[in-house]
Amino acid sequence: MYKNIRAAVVGSINMDLILNMQKVPEVGENVLGTDYGYANGGKGANQATALAKLGAQVKMVGKVADDTNGNKLLENLRNNNIDVSGVATDGTQTGLAAIILDGEGRNRIVVYEGANAEIEPQKALQDIGTDIDLLLLQFETNEEVVVNCVNHAVKNNITTVIDCGPAKNFSLEKMQGATILSPNESETKALTDIYPDTEENILKASKILEERSKAEFIVLKLGERGCSLWGGKELKLFPSYKSKVIDTTAAGDCFTAALALEYVKNGDIHTACDMGNKAGSIAVSRMGAQSSMPTVEEIYQIK
Ligand code: RIB
Repeated sequence: MYKNIRAAVVGSINMDLILNMQKVPEVGENVLGTDYGYANGGKGANQATALAKLGAQVKMVGKVADDTNGNKLLENLRNNNIDVSGVATDGTQTGLAAIILDGEGRNRIVVYEGANAEIEPQKALQDIGTDIDLLLLQFETNEEVVVNCVNHAVKNNITTVIDCGPAKNFSLEKMQGATILSPNESETKALTDIYPDTEENILKASKILEERSKAEFIVLKLGERGCSLWGGKELKLFPSYKSKVIDTTAAGDCFTAALALEYVKNGDIHTACDMGNKAGSIAVSRMGAQSSMPTVEEIYQIK
């Protein structure tokens, strides 16, 4: 159903080191982990994988190094039917994320951006081109790349979706007029100084984000509370779908990809928010980042 949609993702490609433990350590404390493993990650690559798994034609634009992790990550993207001709391989070191997961599936993540921060703005623009229906970006790279790519896509009437992760106070004033701006709770706090805990604060923060970015829709990812939608007239809340939480890593990436794809297909932001919530509820019920991304058939089974 999404197979005619041509999408480009400009963003990060990381190797994730995942350490499981019952309780995360306090400062100065040592705790024992229960197990660990490596997984393909990075917000950009996760979103590209989610789009591809949902059936879209996807081009990844980013940078890795010509090292063991970089080569493995590239191979994995290719195996997921993602066009990697826009991924440069001359970075100094491939990005790495250390993820600690507690017994309730909640994560804490430290990212070393490495090559992701070295993406070249001009090359990214060339790699995106204009023959796409959707551009998806995150903040896990340098600000100039995001600013240039958003402005290029908006100018060319390409549906542009900005996932504001990880929390960074990038200048929204320089990236005007995207279709959807979608931060999670901590990213909202970083960008507006308001934590979206109550309906009043969700509305206040959404208005600030709209004012700063001039994005058409502000969609806040609110974790287990679902998401909110502000399009300039009325605040709408979309409750989440309940599922057993195993690992919340990349649930936001999955949400953004499904939200964006459904919006491109239908042009209905309400259905798109619902689709994002459904996709996210599946992602949290599985371990890992890219390995947790659902297919359309799986999403359709959620009622
Ligand atoms: O959004 C989840 C991702 O954040 C992980 O895969 C990790 O690489 C970090 O970038």
